[in-house]
Order: sequence, then structure tokens, then C-alpha cells
Amino acid sequence: MTNNRLIERLPKAELHMHLEGSLEPELMFELARRNNVSIPFESVDEVRAAYEFSNLQEFLDIYYQGMAVLQRPADFEDLTLAYCRRAHADRVRHVEVFFDPQGHTKRGVSMDTVVQGITGGLERAREELGLSSQLILCFLRHLDEADAFETLREAEPYLEHIAGVGLDSSEVGHPPSKFARLFAECGKHGLRRVAHAGEEGPPEYVWQALDELEVERIDHGNRALEDSALVDRLVDSAMPLTVCPLSNLKLCVVDDMQAHPLRTMLDRGLNASVNSDDPAYFGGYMNANFAAVAQSLALEPSHLGELAANSFRSSWLSDAQKQPFLDEIDLIVTEFTAV
Ligand code: HPA
Ligand code: ZN
Repeated sequence: MTNNRLIERLPKAELHMHLEGSLEPELMFELARRNNVSIPFESVDEVRAAYEFSNLQEFLDIYYQGMAVLQRPADFEDLTLAYCRRAHADRVRHVEVFFDPQGHTKRGVSMDTVVQGITGGLERAREELGLSSQLILCFLRHLDEADAFETLREAEPYLEHIAGVGLDSSEVGHPPSKFARLFAECGKHGLRRVAHAGEEGPPEYVWQALDELEVERIDHGNRALEDSALVDRLVDSAMPLTVCPLSNLKLCVVDDMQAHPLRTMLDRGLNASVNSDDPAYFGGYMNANFAAVAQSLALEPSHLGELAANSFRSSWLSDAQKQPFLDEIDLIVTEFTAV
């Protein structure tokens, strides 16, 4: 109860959220109607009932299917603004969001449509909510290197809107090393680099993301805990891990929330933050993710403050932009523990 009040008050940054994963069933139906796209569901309830997954791939199959309703710039703008409003209601004050262009270009929707729509939504969120944002282009790792290079080429006219690149989709069997040359090229373009690693894949994939992709954040990173030398490396470099508790539960990365490694991560000195991943599919936005771990792992107010502070420290805001949020978090936690 008290923890939930603290969670509501803390300013937060969200660093691991796929815009296409914020497509709520209601908007999916509205866009299906608007664009005359058929979807294999009769009702919003039926869509929600289909969201039972036993692994990452089962989720991805439905996630790529859902994207089919996104056709025009206005669709991407509506999706983006809806997410921003929802995040802002959870006191998220800065977002660094992913999008999956290959999920759209593969079905004939142009890079221009996608980027124009998303940047339009982010701009409106900046004006309407004062929400700051950066955009991260994710490459689908189940597709080949040539496809990713072609996607980078298509994105070149829009790089002023894109802060960095990431790597997502089916992890096992698609190691980071597959994209070493691509990420080197992205680095030459001045793009920042992150990658999903250690969600289902082994610690070796986290090593590769660090050494071969030269990432500055690891998305998920749960399985890094299996390798103590890797944990030391992550602690020593204060490498951010963007952890997604409800996602981990829904995709059976953890058996139950009590078994979630987040508290262990903090105890080991890892720089972990809380994120919602694909909130429309996994049952909750930022504060629901915080509340789930706060309760199941019996987190103290100091842990919650640390997680919120880590989210800003790990963001791509400047030090001058981060400091007021870090000061505010300190003040709120101090106030909270004093009463
Ligand atoms: N993992 C990998 N790929 C993804 C995810 C995820 O959690 N969400 C959207 N694409
Ligand atoms: Zn993700």
C-alpha cells in the first residue's frame, strides 16, 4: 500500500518498451476497422484471452500478427501518443522507445510512414505532456544480416530522428555475433547501441553483445546471473540492465514473481531498472511492473528509489537533464522513510 504510493510519486524513465507492444486490443480493433484489415478475433476479450504464452516465440507470433493493423502515419502516431499518455500517467518523465521497422516494411508499409507517424506522436507527447523521448530502431535478429543492412540503408534519411539501434525478436539460435558487422556500421553512423540478451539466450550472448556489438545497455540480461565473471564485468562497468518483470512472468522466463532475480541483481550491485517491454501484451505499464516486484520481492523504499534513479542514470539524457530527477527521487525517498 505505502509502497504503491511511493511508486506513483517517483519520476521514472522507461528504457525498454516496444511501441508495437503497446498496441491495446481496443486500438487494434479501431485500426482494423479504419484500415479495413481483418484480424482473427471477434472481440477485445477474445484478443486478451489469446495472450497466454509459454515462451518468447509464442508471444512474437501474435505480436507480428497484431502489427498488421498499422498502415498509415496516423496509425503510428495514435499508437505512440496513446503509449506516451499512459506512461506519463505512471509518472514516466522520459522514454527511449523501440520500434521494429522490418515488421512493417516486410508487409509493404514504408520506413517513411513508420518514422513519420512515430516522430509525430513523440512530438505531440513532448508538447502535450512535456515528455522527453528518444527513438531506437530495432533489428529483427531472426532475419539475416543482409536484411538488416538494407533496413539501415532505408533508415539513413531519418537518422536525425533515431538515437540508437537495438536487437530484438527470437533470441536462441540468433547470437549477437550474427550482427557484429552491422553494429560496427551503425557505430560509424553515430548511432548508440543496445541489444536484447540473456532473456532466453545464454550468458555467452551477453558477452557477445558487450564485446562484439559494443552495446551500452543490455535489454533483459536475466541469464547473466548464471556467470559470476560476467556479473563482475557488468557491475564493474555499471552496465545498465533494462529488466522487465511482467514480461518475464508472461513469457515464462521466471516461474513466479517471487523467483524474479531483480532483488538479487540489486544486491549484487548491478545497475538494473524496471520497464514494461510490451505492456499491452504482458498485463501492465511501468507502475504495475514496479508494484509486482515491490510486493513479490518485499522491496524497501530505498530499492524503489534506486530502481527509479537507475532508470535516469542509464538513460541518454545529459547529466544536467538527469540531475533534477535524481534530486527529486532522493527527496521523495527521504520524505517517505521519515514518516
Ligand atoms: N524480446 C525479444 N523481442 C521482442 C520482445 C522481447 O521481449 N518484445 C518485442 N520484441
Ligand atoms: Zn524487449
